[in-house]
Amino acid sequence: MIDKLYHNRDLSDQEFSDLLAGDAYDRQLFARAAQVRHKVYGKAVYIRGLVELSNYCRNNCYYCGIRHDNRKLSRYRLDREQILACCSDGYALGFRTFVLQGGEDPYYNDDLVCEIASAIKEAHPDCALTLSLGEKSKESYRRFFNAGADRYLLRHETAAEEHYRRLHPPAMSLARRKQCLMDLKEIGYQVGSGFMVGSPHQTGRHLLADLRFLQELQPAMIGIGPYLTHQDTPFKLFGNGSLRLTLRLIGILRLMFPMALIPATTALGTVDPKGRELGLMAGANVLMPNLSPLKVRKLYELYDNKICTGEEAAECRMCLNDRVAGCGYEIVVHRGDAKTAPAADTLPGLVLEAEAATLTA
Ligand code: 5AD
Ligand code: FES
Repeated sequence: MIDKLYHNRDLSDQEFSDLLAGDAYDRQLFARAAQVRHKVYGKAVYIRGLVELSNYCRNNCYYCGIRHDNRKLSRYRLDREQILACCSDGYALGFRTFVLQGGEDPYYNDDLVCEIASAIKEAHPDCALTLSLGEKSKESYRRFFNAGADRYLLRHETAAEEHYRRLHPPAMSLARRKQCLMDLKEIGYQVGSGFMVGSPHQTGRHLLADLRFLQELQPAMIGIGPYLTHQDTPFKLFGNGSLRLTLRLIGILRLMFPMALIPATTALGTVDPKGRELGLMAGANVLMPNLSPLKVRKLYELYDNKICTGEEAAECRMCLNDRVAGCGYEIVVHRGDAKTAPAADTLPGLVLEAEAATLTA
């Protein structure tokens, strides 16, 4: 089964389910995923500087700590100058991609987002700009793109209709989410999507739907992390998602999408102290540390016990260097765009060079 995936062949629903169901294939899976990752990206780990610009949100996702109805949270917004300052600090630390992420906060209207995007691109023309600001109209997405945004992250969260409805209030819909992703792709963004692992009520069937949806979408980036409890949400009684299953899914995604940018997420680092390292070894190739000002870090708590809320950007940068080196990889100063597909006539997509040499010899 693993070899089938490795040779770019699709698996049946049953095969995927067997793969997800237990640890029987894990050793083989992680070995093959590391091999593919190495073949496509070598030792490189790309970093993105995350600026969490606002914890105001008009939505009420049942799992999320910054949901509108969480009255216990004090809310903040960063202004244009603060955001630009975060990016400049990040630039000095070697970041060449900035990700502006926030709750769905109408304060950042289209004009303001465009103004901030073009100011960042003007100050750092050699950098990529990623937005992660939720659902917007196609027209708004187009304006942001024209103002200089290169990439957009919008996780689909779950690709199963009935599961989506259990995670979100009736005002939100999976159809709308999918439409946004299609709009973003059409406009020309490098699109990132993804889902939570072990979210309340999730079953293997739902995860299968996630994999199938990603096959349709073919995103440049796929972010997954374990669901983590937040005490001030309606889901406070549900336990955390599993580290092991998240790693298994990272391995599967690496084999399914050899070129994809797959972050070892902060949620993964929160569920286990070595989570991000394990993520890299399972096939991930991106890290997204925080560049937000220290004084607001604690307030962007999507889930309890989020790591790095007490560290300055520079501290995380050094810490990550050591962690990445510790698993034999290397952080690079680079925009870190996704590699594009090899020519269609390349033999089984990802035959290793050595193997290819013997094949053609
Ligand atoms: N646990 C884990 N991930 C979460 N996210 C939001 N709330 C939680 C939680 N409680 C994820 C969502 C969102 C991303 C920014 O963070 O997948 O898209
Ligand atoms: Fe933030 Fe280690 S990455 S302290």
